[in-house]
Amino acid sequence: MARLELSPEQFRKLCEQVAEIATDFLSRLDQREIQPRAGAADMVRAFEEAWPREGLGEAAAAKLRNVVELSRWQNGRFFGYVMGSGEPSGAAADLLASVINQNVTSWRSAPAATVIERTVVKWLADAIGCAGFSGSLTGGGSSANLMALAMARESKLAANESGARPGAVYCSAEAHMSIGKSVRLLGIGRKHLRQIAVDSEFRMNLDELLRAVESDERKGIPPIAIVGTAGTVNTGAIDDLERIADIAQRHRVWFHVDGAYGALAAIAAPEKFKGIERADSLSLDPHKWLYQSLDCGCLLFRDSGAARAAFSHSGDYAKSLLQGELESFMFFDESLELSRRFRGLRLWLSMQYHGQDAFRAAIGEDLALAQRLAQKIAGESSLELLAPVPLSAVCFRHKQAPDGVDLNAWNEKLMKRVVQRGRVYLSNATLGGKFALRACVTNHRTTAADVDAVVEEVAAAASQPQA
Ligand SMILES: Cc1ncc(COP(=O)(O)O)c(C=O)c1O
Repeated sequence: MARLELSPEQFRKLCEQVAEIATDFLSRLDQREIQPRAGAADMVRAFEEAWPREGLGEAAAAKLRNVVELSRWQNGRFFGYVMGSGEPSGAAADLLASVINQNVTSWRSAPAATVIERTVVKWLADAIGCAGFSGSLTGGGSSANLMALAMARESKLAANESGARPGAVYCSAEAHMSIGKSVRLLGIGRKHLRQIAVDSEFRMNLDELLRAVESDERKGIPPIAIVGTAGTVNTGAIDDLERIADIAQRHRVWFHVDGAYGALAAIAAPEKFKGIERADSLSLDPHKWLYQSLDCGCLLFRDSGAARAAFSHSGDYAKSLLQGELESFMFFDESLELSRRFRGLRLWLSMQYHGQDAFRAAIGEDLALAQRLAQKIAGESSLELLAPVPLSAVCFRHKQAPDGVDLNAWNEKLMKRVVQRGRVYLSNATLGGKFALRACVTNHRTTAADVDAVVEEVAAAASQPQA
């Protein structure tokens, strides 16, 4: 047998070991602190070792237990960032995807995987009200946003042949950092990113947007793209997509929607996302609010010709020599990536295993749980909400800092204490200069008792003796 080959028995045994560790993790998920107790030095001691000359065999797999123990356990009380909950049926599909190791460059290279990815992309588009859009799965929202803006640039101010020229991109001041990063990477230049002020609900001020577009037009700086956010990372604000679509249409500007956080909530609450179907391109993240394991983002677009204009640049060795729409289809003609893992399989299994109604219900429940948390906070005299809660991110702060302690410093301290206590995990946001404690519910495991624990833990952290 070749040196690296595993016999079927060895492989089965290894999988059983892994399945045992994974099942044990899932069954104890609720029983341990979210953060591992071990610190950085313990982690280094545990993992920074030399590559063994001789193979360890099953003993290497046994070390996986330690990986689990030293990891963060994202149970139903994990409310940090915008984090999906790692739906396990999708994880099981991941194992198979890695075993069959399809390279999803094109139909020629991965026929079944290509059809499956196109199918799940269509399911996602249909489910959020964007029937007719096509696209591909990506590493996440950041790469989807980069690809969308590359398409916008090529469509409005073609640069692939002769290089980038000055043009402007518009987004709200609350847009995700990946928009600014994309503008820099694409040679549009940070100084051409117009970060439009937001209103009291953290939505883009559209009068100001219009003024900025018209001002650039007068100065001869062509507007390239307007990015509307469907769920800002801080507060979940949803820009007025309908009115942005009108402005984009009138001024012939590309309309991209960054829905990495929020767009999948359109499955449960389509009324919040009116106008989303008018986008030229749209990012959404199944690894956030469709509960899938990382990584699984998605870029949808209305016109695959625009994607090909931006990305088609294939070497002869990769070209499909086949005929037919499907047989000649190449993801790399519409994407940044050539070699791509079979991300679609986890979605395909998970979406069928549970069915559309279960996902709709879970997202609806997260929306309701966020409202419950907001109400609890509003009912506590020691707490105050710092933003409306249109989706599932709840930003608030504790109002009663000890004498002489600044409220921002106090809330930062509380956040660290809450995380250290281990029962609840919060992250933070800065809103109008105020340090906010932030709880975001994008987790199919979260219950009413879990969100109630947020208020309990903040109260407990506030009454801890001063260090
Ligand atoms: C609105 C928004 N856009 C983009 C992103 C980036 O997505 P990813 O982390 O998948 O790259 C995020 C991440 O939280 C987000 O909230």
